[in-house]
Amino acid sequence: MTFSPNIVKIDLQNLGFNLTQVKRLIDPKTRIMGIVKSDAYGHGLLEVARLLERNGIESLGVAHIHEALKLRKHGIRLPIIILCGIRSGQDSEEVVNNDLTPVVFDLQSLDLLAGEALRKGKRINIHLKIDTGMGRLGIPHEEAGPFMKKILEYPGLRLEGLMSHLSSADEPDYGFTREQIGNFQRAVNTGRGLGLDLPLNNLANSAGIMAHRDSHFEMVRPGIMLYGGLPSPEFHPPLPLRPVMGFSGIVLQVKDLPDQTPVSYGRIYYTEGPKKIAIVSAGYGDGLPRSLSNRGKVLIAGKKVDIIGTVCMNMVICDITGVRDVADGDEAVFLGTQGEEGITGDDIAGWSDTISYEIFLSIGQSSIREYIE
Ligand SMILES: Cc1ncc(COP(=O)(O)O)c(C=O)c1O
Repeated sequence: MTFSPNIVKIDLQNLGFNLTQVKRLIDPKTRIMGIVKSDAYGHGLLEVARLLERNGIESLGVAHIHEALKLRKHGIRLPIIILCGIRSGQDSEEVVNNDLTPVVFDLQSLDLLAGEALRKGKRINIHLKIDTGMGRLGIPHEEAGPFMKKILEYPGLRLEGLMSHLSSADEPDYGFTREQIGNFQRAVNTGRGLGLDLPLNNLANSAGIMAHRDSHFEMVRPGIMLYGGLPSPEFHPPLPLRPVMGFSGIVLQVKDLPDQTPVSYGRIYYTEGPKKIAIVSAGYGDGLPRSLSNRGKVLIAGKKVDIIGTVCMNMVICDITGVRDVADGDEAVFLGTQGEEGITGDDIAGWSDTISYEIFLSIGQSSIREYIE
């Protein structure tokens, strides 16, 4: 029983299926770090982590330490990598107390972690983030050698691997990704030349996993493909993925409008001829992008119908002219299937000029979630 007309359904079986698809694309020896940051892309941190743990994933990746602590508090025992690193003495204490694996990219966090490791008489596993061309977090790949030498001076730290991030692995032109892979490989070689073992180097995101086998190294970091989404709406996956999130609401009211009637805020839509409309129970306050105004689609009575006018905070208006037998209370599907028709996160992303990541996050975090085991 829910007290909202809108419901987000998370299909954990499909999540398990997508993990199996990741395994089919990689060498059996390659490890997987399942990316569960930002509440598992809106799918629910704990539920997703538990399913991945049950299905034999080797580790999890979160953005910030509070997400790692939540996982530990709820009994997740897997290695957890903190992708955005740590900043304070308190963070480094929590790392040691909870056996977490931070990513490092500056001397300050090295000092903090090494100090804490010494105090507690423990070794801390770390990953070193290097920038191979993303232009984001990490030390420049050319400086990886001196930085790794520095790490070798700290006995309490164990460098499990280098990591870097691909900026363009979903693009049809492979040139830039090849450069990034080359830069990464050279840094790994440098580290090994210094005597480091580096057992878990990792570079590949979903696009890398699906399109660039030579980016896999010892560990891969799938995010969006676990959730059944694509790195970009135009990307062609090499094998099928199943959608994990669905989102539906209901028709609140059906009514007839005469010719030249304005619809919703700002009157960006006027009827051309008499129209039948359905007012549906979710809007941008429930996670639908406002940019679906006059552009998006919804499934009603098994038909894909247009969103007309401006998307409101908790309602959208759909043109159901010619669709038979629609009544108040009928199901309206924003994301998922109804009858023969379907709408994917990538469809919504395409209509609203974004990527499915943002769609899942915003829908998943705005409404009540129900889990299907
Ligand atoms: C460092 C890092 N690794 C892996 C991922 C997963 O990427 P994707 O969801 O494209 O697979 C992300 C996501 O943004 C990331 O920031």
